[in-house]
Formats: sequence, C-alpha cells, structure tokens
Amino acid sequence: MRTVVCLALAGFAALAHGTGATVDVIPMPAQVTVAGDAFTVSAQTPIVVDADDVAARRTADYLAALTARTRHLSLQVTNGPAQGPAIVLKRDAQAPVSHAEGYALDVTSQGIRVVAREEAGLFYGAITAWQLLSPAHGSGDVQVPAVHIRDEPRFAWRGLMLDSARHFQTTAEVRTIIDQMAQHKLNVLHWHLTDDQGWRIEIKRYPELTRIGAWRTPPGAAEGVPATRYGGFYTQDDIRAIVAYAADRHIVVVPEIDMPGHAQAAVASYPELGVTGKRPPVSPDWGVNPYLYNVDDATVHFLQNVLDEVMALFPSTYIHVGGDEAVKDQWKASAAVQARMRALGLKSENAMQSWFIGQMGQYLNAHGRRLIGWDEILEGGLPASATVMSWRGTQGAIAAAKQGHDVVLSPAPQLYLDQMQSDRADETTGRLPSMSLESYYAFEAVPKQLSAAQAQHVLGMQANMWTEHMPTIRHVEHAVFPRMDALAESAWTPVASRDWHGFLDRLPTQLAHYRAQDIGYADSAFAATIEVDRNAAIASGRASVTLSNQAKTGSLHYTTDGSLPTASSPLYITPFSVSLPTTVKAVALGPDGTQLAAPRERVLDVASLNTRSTGELENCPGSDFRLRVQPTPDATTLAPTYLINVFDNCRLYRTAKLDGVGAIRVDTVRLPRNYQLAHDQKLVVAHKAGTLQGELVVHLDSCKGRVLATLPLPKDGPATFSLQGALARQAGVHDLCLVFTSPISGPLYGIGAAALLPAADSAGTKR
Ligand code: ACM
Repeated sequence: MRTVVCLALAGFAALAHGTGATVDVIPMPAQVTVAGDAFTVSAQTPIVVDADDVAARRTADYLAALTARTRHLSLQVTNGPAQGPAIVLKRDAQAPVSHAEGYALDVTSQGIRVVAREEAGLFYGAITAWQLLSPAHGSGDVQVPAVHIRDEPRFAWRGLMLDSARHFQTTAEVRTIIDQMAQHKLNVLHWHLTDDQGWRIEIKRYPELTRIGAWRTPPGAAEGVPATRYGGFYTQDDIRAIVAYAADRHIVVVPEIDMPGHAQAAVASYPELGVTGKRPPVSPDWGVNPYLYNVDDATVHFLQNVLDEVMALFPSTYIHVGGDEAVKDQWKASAAVQARMRALGLKSENAMQSWFIGQMGQYLNAHGRRLIGWDEILEGGLPASATVMSWRGTQGAIAAAKQGHDVVLSPAPQLYLDQMQSDRADETTGRLPSMSLESYYAFEAVPKQLSAAQAQHVLGMQANMWTEHMPTIRHVEHAVFPRMDALAESAWTPVASRDWHGFLDRLPTQLAHYRAQDIGYADSAFAATIEVDRNAAIASGRASVTLSNQAKTGSLHYTTDGSLPTASSPLYITPFSVSLPTTVKAVALGPDGTQLAAPRERVLDVASLNTRSTGELENCPGSDFRLRVQPTPDATTLAPTYLINVFDNCRLYRTAKLDGVGAIRVDTVRLPRNYQLAHDQKLVVAHKAGTLQGELVVHLDSCKGRVLATLPLPKDGPATFSLQGALARQAGVHDLCLVFTSPISGPLYGIGAAALLPAADSAGTKR
C-alpha cells in the first residue's frame, strides 16, 4: 500500500500510516512526509560513505556503534558507491537543505539516504536515522517506514549547563551527558567550572586554584564517618579530551569562570584576590556567599591570565564570565574598593561590576572571543557585543534584547533542572515548585514582549543543571532525563510542529534508549499515583482509590492481591473500593503493553493512613521556600529525602483525625545548617526554645494553638532518629503544627515522616 501523509504541520503521529512501523523521532523534525515503501534494515545492510570523507566516516562509525549498543544490530561501514540497498551518508553541496545543521533523509525501497551540506547536518541526519532504526523493542531486522525528512534547527543555541563545582562529575560521567546531548541534537555544553564550593579547572600558572580550591571539608558527614575532604578537578588534558569528545559530536563546550562573585574557592586559594585579605575556607555552604574578587589591576590581570589558559583549552566563540549573585557587601565595606570606584569615576557598586566585566569583555574581544554572562551583567550597563543569559525569569532577556544584546533563555524555575519534576513521595532531591515534563515542553523561548526584530537576538535556550543537591550522577540523570527530550524539541522543532501528545507518543522509544544505555531517567511523569481520602478510609475501614499519573497518558492497570500489575490486571476506569488492609499496586502501560514507569504500590492500613511522608507535610504560613535534600556528602542513593525550609523550620500536618490517637512519632534527620542566605537572612523565623538544643513542639489547629506535645531534640547521637511521645487526647479532625525550636545557628532538622499512633504507643524518644 502506498500512502502520502504530510506530517509537517499536523500533530505528529507516532504511527506512520500504512506501514505499521513507528516514526519515533525526538526532536520532531521540521518536515516529515511518509510516502512509498518501507525499507528493512538487517545486519547485511551496509552504511556507505565516500572514501575520502573522513567526517562522514566518523559519523557512520558513530551511527554503527550506537545502533549496535541500543538495537543489538551490527552494521558494517563501507566505502561507496553503494552496491545495493544501503544506508548512505553523504555530504553534498547540492543537498536540499542549506542550513549547516540541516539534512535531508529519505527512506525508499533502496535504503536510507542522508545528505547534508555540512558535517553537523550529516551528523544530525545520522542521529535521526539511528532513531528510525531503533524502535522501542526487539533486536535484529527493523522495518523503517518510507519517511522523507527535511530538517533544520529552530535555534542556534541548544544548551545544557552542567555545574561541576558544587558536586564533581568524573570525565566518564561528563561524557555520558555529552553522548545524550548529541542524541538530542543539543549543541552547547555550558560547563560551570568555578564556584564558592570548588575550583575545578587546572590553571598551570596558578596551581593553588586546584591544590586548595578544588577541595572542601563538608559538614555533616554521617555519624561515625570522619569529615573527609570532598572535591576533584579536571586536568588540562582531561579538558582537552572532553572538548574533543564534544566536538566530535558537534557540541561546543562553553566554559564558565564565575566573577566577581561565587569567588570563594579562588579567594581561599589566593587570599590576595579577595577584598578582606583573609583566607576563607573553600565554602562548605550552599546559597549566596559574600566573597567577591577585589578590583585591583593585579586581580584583573590574574583573571585575564586565567582566561588565557581557558581560551587555549576551549575553542568556543563564547566564554562565560558568570556575573550572578555578587552581593556587594564586601565592596561596600572596603575602603580600597571605594577608593578605586572614585578613581574610576564610578557611582555605584553595580557600575563597578560593569567596569569589571567590561575589562574581561575587552580582553576576550581582543582575542577574538565573545563574552556571555548571567543577566546581572546588565545592571550597570554593558557593551553591545556582550551576550546575556537570562536566568532570573525572562525579564533579563527582554531587557537585553530590547537593548540589542543577543540573549539565551535559561530562566528559573522553568528551565532549571534542579527543580523537582513532581511532588511524588518517591521523587528525589531538588527544589520546589516542581517543573514537570509538560511544563518543560510548554516553555516558549521567545518572549511575547519582543518585536520580530528584537526576537532575532534570541540565540536559543538552555536548561541548567545546578548540583548543590545532586551528589551523584544518578541524581543528575534523574533530574535531566527525560526533561532533556522536552528541551530538545522546544529548541529544535518549529513552534507549529510542537505537539505535547505526539511527543508523549514518541517518548517510550526514547525511554528504551535510556534503558539500553543505563541512563537513570525519571519516570515521574508516568508513575501511577494512588490516592485515597485518608480520614474517610480510617472511619469506614474501606478506601475509595483513585489512580492517575502526571502526564495523563497510558492505561493504568492495578492489583489488590499483592501481585505485580500487568496488561491482564484490571484496567482503571473509575475509583474503586477496597477494604483495609489492602496493598494497591498500579502501573501505566503504553499502547503495546510495555511499562511507561515502574509499578508503584501503596499500603492501605490505619497505620500508613495515619502517616505523612516528608512531602505531605506543608510549610507553615509565611514562608513558601521548599527544598528536598539528603544528608550530604554521604548520600549515595536517591532516597530517603527530607523536605526542608531553611527560613522557617515548621511543618503542617493537615486534617489529622485525632480520635483514638494518643501519641506521635516523627522520623527526623539532623542536617548541617550550611546555607548562606545573604540578604535573605532577615527572612529567617526563630522559634523560642525551652532547652539548649531545642525541641519539636506539636500545636493544635495552628502554630499558635495549644501545645499537645513537646519532644526534646537529642543533643547528639545518630543523624537520623525518631522522636516519639504522648499526644494529649483530642477528638475530631484538626491541623497540627510541628515546630522545631532549635536555635537557628544550630543544626537544621528535617522530617522524614510523621505518624499518629494509638494511645498505647506513647513511649519516649527512640534512637
Ligand atoms: C544562577 O542561578 N545563579 C545563575
């Protein structure tokens, strides 16, 4: 059967009409037509390149390796011309798509032909061919539908920022990220290499930067484990290898050397670079630290010397100089900085920062490079040649583009990958509010406030992976994937072809690629959520169970007999009723019956219905800050997590049914209070303690309500412990307010879970 279906502007169907095969490409190509006969690729199908085209050969080898790894299909690369049906990769000045990153891909009964004018385009065509060759399941021969693709990217800057300063990734781990970027047609790795908590790039001229600056002594190592230093750095050889590895995959690495703030590790290495003359430690704290570079000529020269080595390592046009979150307290307090400002005729510390950044911009320009920085660099004025990366929402991008600067959109929280992706109890670390896969997909990079001419300044978009709370690569992978798929489609695909539901249909193939490559992606968007009305269930002994998932996709199947749910388990249509105790297990399945997420379960009995996990306890009124953390540096797994609010250590247990309840148990963690809040310190709420180390006080109805229990916090002992005590008897449904009165200078306490217990269970604190 021959069919002609143009999918360029319509929603993209995962099923290519008439072939029964899937066309699961992410990001969705600019133009896709399905017409003609399918082609079957087998182990006998060669990948053919021109003998003299080294780049095409490299791309063909890459395609063969990827296909072998993810599809268990070994294809041989041979020199052309093709002798029969083949996958042909060819650079051709006459290719129908002229964009340097564009390509044409045609599947006919004679094979798959990818042509592009430039190497990058050929590479992206090969990535698309790989996706066509590797549907979700199976190995061996693969039938590829007769697609005709004409493709090029929407944006030139399709970026991911990786913070290797807060937590360090090995070079192998960085390569893993680069591999995935390539498979998503992303092309800029913004590498955050210096910060208060670590300096991670070897600078030959200044060895102290890594001898001292690459190592910190974190607080709060697990009890019994002596505080050991944490850190690491990339040698110049490591960096050259990473840059080359990325370049082979058409990814430019843009290094960031953050200044004038986020400088504590540098000042710890060379105190003469700082403002106070004193040597601070490399920071063990998260947040906004006060240490700035001073503004002496010697410091400017130091940093320009650093930039010399940076430019020698990184061929990128853009060099990122940070500029974010430089609180100016030290500059304001320094007679030397103030004198320098007067001497330069500068009226404000913001103007001083502008001058400082300007020195770097001129230096970079003189060496044929361009400066890019976070949107704070706009504050004191900026040379037109500077490019602005907008992170404080999109306002910086709008202001910068209106002033004629090029901009990259990487706003918080929309494109921050340290935002959690759901509020699920089994989600790992991150900031709240959560930014779902769908919200990533929906983000539009060109602000409506820009005219068409101003919009020309939008180079593209970037997601930022900050790693304060991502101690391992598994945390990073969970945060990045599959939101990278949504980012890639937003950054590559024409707006008119973006289609959330089509994307969801294409995603399972991508998830299979992740599994084949051992990428620890998050299944949060698909995981079954099992909900009940707790108090109604406790009262009646029966629970009405509602199932859902975040992406509202797939079919939900469940069991109530403890077995794992499969396609033959009951299909969820409307809420169903079970009697307590019952364990409900549920899973979302795709159209072909494969799991979209691992099955989830919920135990429904009185004890668990009377227990709230960390994310189910709300903030107390007055402070909305929420962060889910693990004790660091010792977290090696994704759980358990603790939701904290560094401004007000107070949680609400809403609508507690207190009939028959006589005690409370609170699973607690003692965390180091290693948060620098800078000017937000004034927002911290202190609670009056009755003892030196404070207690957990349980109030009825509100945080000003009657005290039902006071549970003293242990002075020492293990970092995780349970507080348990009698709760004055009450009837009916009430909110409970759980306040930690511990001194704000001391440790920070987090709640893992709070459980209401029958009157018999009112024993004291348990360790
Ligand atoms: C930033 O998040 N400080 C750029």
